[in-house]
Amino acid sequence: MELRNRFVRSATYDGCADRTGHVSEEQIKIFAELAHGGVGLIVTGIAYVHHSGQNLPFQNSIATDDCIPGLRRLTGAVHDRGAKIAVQLFHAGREAARFLKGKNEQAIAPSFVHNDPYFTGEHRFMTEDEIWDMIRAFGDAAKRARDAEFDAVQLHGAHNFLLSQFLSPSTNHRDDHWGGTLEKRLRFHREVYRDIRSKIGEDYPVLIKVGVQDGFPGGLHFSEGNLAAQFLAQWGFDSLEISQGLRGKPYEGTEFRTKINTLDREAYFRHWCKEIKSQANVPVMMVGGLRTFELMEEVVQKDEADFISLSRPFIREPGIINEWKGGDRHRATCISCNKCLEALRKGEALRCIQEKTEENS
Ligand SMILES: Cc1cc2nc3c(=O)[nH]c(=O)nc-3n(C[C@H](O)[C@H](O)[C@H](O)COP(=O)(O)O)c2cc1C
Repeated sequence: MELRNRFVRSATYDGCADRTGHVSEEQIKIFAELAHGGVGLIVTGIAYVHHSGQNLPFQNSIATDDCIPGLRRLTGAVHDRGAKIAVQLFHAGREAARFLKGKNEQAIAPSFVHNDPYFTGEHRFMTEDEIWDMIRAFGDAAKRARDAEFDAVQLHGAHNFLLSQFLSPSTNHRDDHWGGTLEKRLRFHREVYRDIRSKIGEDYPVLIKVGVQDGFPGGLHFSEGNLAAQFLAQWGFDSLEISQGLRGKPYEGTEFRTKINTLDREAYFRHWCKEIKSQANVPVMMVGGLRTFELMEEVVQKDEADFISLSRPFIREPGIINEWKGGDRHRATCISCNKCLEALRKGEALRCIQEKTEENS
C-alpha cells in the first residue's frame, strides 16, 4: 500500500452510523472532507465484527454482508479524493456490557473479574467455542473489508477492548492455552491474524493498533507490551500503531490525555513508540497528542516512527494537512479538551465543541 504522505487519521468513532450499523450520508461527508484535506491514510472508527462486540448505538457494523454496499460507497468517496482507507476491526469484549444489558444479553470476556476498580459491568468468561467463533468473525469481517474495497484492515488491539482484555494479566486470568504466559495471552491475536490471512490472502495489508502498557499499576507493563509488539511484527502484521492498553484514571491514564499545552505534554507515547520502532521490522505509527509540525518532522527524521497518526486535531481541522503542505505550519488548534468525546458518549454525533464554546463566550 502506497500513501501520498506520512499522515494517518487515527481511528475515530464518529457516532454517525445508522441504528443498524450501516454507513450514513453524514459519514460519507465526514470521510470525503478528510480525504479532501490531504491526509494519506484514514482509519475508520471502530467497526464491530460480531453483534456481541458492539458497545455504542451508532457504531458501524462489518459483521454481516448487508453492510458491504454502504462501506463500498465510503471507500469510493475516499479514493476519489486521493487518500487510502483502512477499516478498524473491533470487538468490545466486556465493554459491551452496558449496551448488551438493554438487549438482555451478557458481555463476554476472557475472564470474569471480581471487584475490578475500573470496571463494574456484567460479564462472563468465553467458552472455547466462543473464542473460535470470535476469531472467525474477525476473519470474515476482513473478507468483507476487502470486498468493500478498503485498502487495509486495522485490528483494534488497544485501549479497553477484547484484544487488550486477552493481553492484560489484569483481565485475563485463564489457566488454559488462552491465558498465563505472554505467548498464551497473545494466542487470540495470533489466531485472529491467521484466520484473517487465510481468508484474504498474503498480499493484503493487515495492521494493528496495539496497547503496550495499561494505564494503572499492576496491569500490562511495557516490558511485556514491547515484546508483544515484536511478536506481532514477526508473525506478519504489516504495521504497528503504538497506543495504550486498558485505561486507568480519566484522562491521564487513558489514550486521550488532556492539557497538551506545551511541547513536553505532546507525543505522550513517544518513548514507547521509539523503543518499539528501534527493534521492529515493519512500519510503525506514532499516536497520542502530536500537535506541532516541527515535532512530527523531528520524530520522522530521527526514525522514531514511520507515520504520524492524529485523531482530535482532524475533528477540528480536517484540512490541516493541506494547510501544512501549503506552508502554513501552525500548531494544531485542538486544545484536547475531550468535549467531543464526552458528547459522543451521550449519543451525539462527532464534532468539535471547542468551536461552539468560543462562539458562545
Ligand atoms: C472522539 C474520539 C473517538 C475515538 N475513537 C477511536 C476508535 O474508534 N478507535 C481507536 O482505536 N481509537 C479511538 N480514539 C483514540 C484516537 O485514535 C487516538 O488514539 C487518541 O485520541 C490520541 O490521539 P490524539 O491526541 O491525536 O487525539 C478516539 C479518540 C477520540 C477523541
